[in-house]
Amino acid sequence: MTVKVAVHGYGTIGKRVADAVTRQSDMKLVGVAKTRPSHEARSALAKGYKLFLAGAGQRDAFDRAGIPLAGTAAEMIREADVVIDCAPDKVGRENARLYQEAKVAAIFQGGEKADIAEVSFSALANFEAARGKRTVRVVSCNTTGIARAAAVLEPAFGVAHWEATIVRRGADPAESHKGPINGILPTFKLPSHHGPDVKSIFPSLPITTIAMVVPTTLMHVHVNHVKLTRAPASASEVLERFRKTPRFHLFREWEGVEGTPQVMEFARDRGGPGRSDMMENALWENGLRLDGPDLYFFQAIHQESIVVPENIDAIRATMNLAPDAATSIAQTDRSLGIPAPE
Ligand SMILES: NC(=O)c1ccc[n+]([C@@H]2O[C@H](COP(=O)([O-])OP(=O)(O)OC[C@H]3O[C@@H](n4cnc5c(N)ncnc54)[C@H](OP(=O)(O)O)[C@@H]3O)[C@@H](O)[C@H]2O)c1
Repeated sequence: MTVKVAVHGYGTIGKRVADAVTRQSDMKLVGVAKTRPSHEARSALAKGYKLFLAGAGQRDAFDRAGIPLAGTAAEMIREADVVIDCAPDKVGRENARLYQEAKVAAIFQGGEKADIAEVSFSALANFEAARGKRTVRVVSCNTTGIARAAAVLEPAFGVAHWEATIVRRGADPAESHKGPINGILPTFKLPSHHGPDVKSIFPSLPITTIAMVVPTTLMHVHVNHVKLTRAPASASEVLERFRKTPRFHLFREWEGVEGTPQVMEFARDRGGPGRSDMMENALWENGLRLDGPDLYFFQAIHQESIVVPENIDAIRATMNLAPDAATSIAQTDRSLGIPAPE
């Protein structure tokens, strides 16, 4: 069976999700929609994607730029079995009406509140909860990173308490209008929204988060302190759990990966179908310590891409395309060049 997928919004996330959809043997891309004839519109056409007019966009502007449109987003949506809403934060809620009218399944992103969908989703944690649902929300980049780690730690060792400090990138690399370019900005909402968001997937996880924004565009970094209920025998036991789980990449000390610049350099060198992105949680083996039941570890999260495989798995769950999470995750990861666990 092949499902028809429309990507509504073609920015940082949408363009990656569209590319990923074209790599799936069980999916067909109907088209992508955006409001303006920017360079991404030209790239979409060069890739052979049909381009549709989104939101308050003006057809004239596309005509003047010589960018042909295949129709309106409403027309694109009517052709689809499922729409991936990749519109800016909170715009997905306005778009939800279009999906209801067209009676198509819809997958929203983490910029929307949890109540936009029947289920908040992270493939390792709750694939089955999304099976057959008509509305699903793939949680944000930071929440995805924590949910993946929780899907490893909670069943293996139990979590008595989890404190995460989230060091957030100031902007995505192409966002020249955003900052800060100097300074560290604490997020004065305490706890930050990330902890409660993780609970949209793990309702009883005792997690609290604080956040700050720093002048970098590459990645977020999480500083985690987790008090486990069943102390592992050694740090190696914890590392082994992460190593054997899809979508984790562990850097060894000798690799000289001092921080996020080398993580992204590694991803660029790796190349392949993954657009030089780092879709795995990146952990440092020498950045993980165990002190009795107290586990400390850092993880780096590539905000532009970590949710891309999750969106593909969310499509498989809602459309009943895979027998289980492991099958979908393996299929997605093979198609995107994410290595299988060691
Ligand atoms: N960027 C991240 O780090 C990140 C990570 C994880 C999750 N998310 C979430 O993913 C979602 C998309 O974020 P993004 O960073 O990809 O945003 P983005 O780069 O600003 O892209 C948004 C896209 O939506 C289009 N758009 C504008 N109005 C629209 C409408 N009414 N209907 C449909 N599309 C519309 C824009 O069109 P134009 O191209 O014509 O402007 C653009 O293509 C948000 O919920 C965000 O929170 C973002």
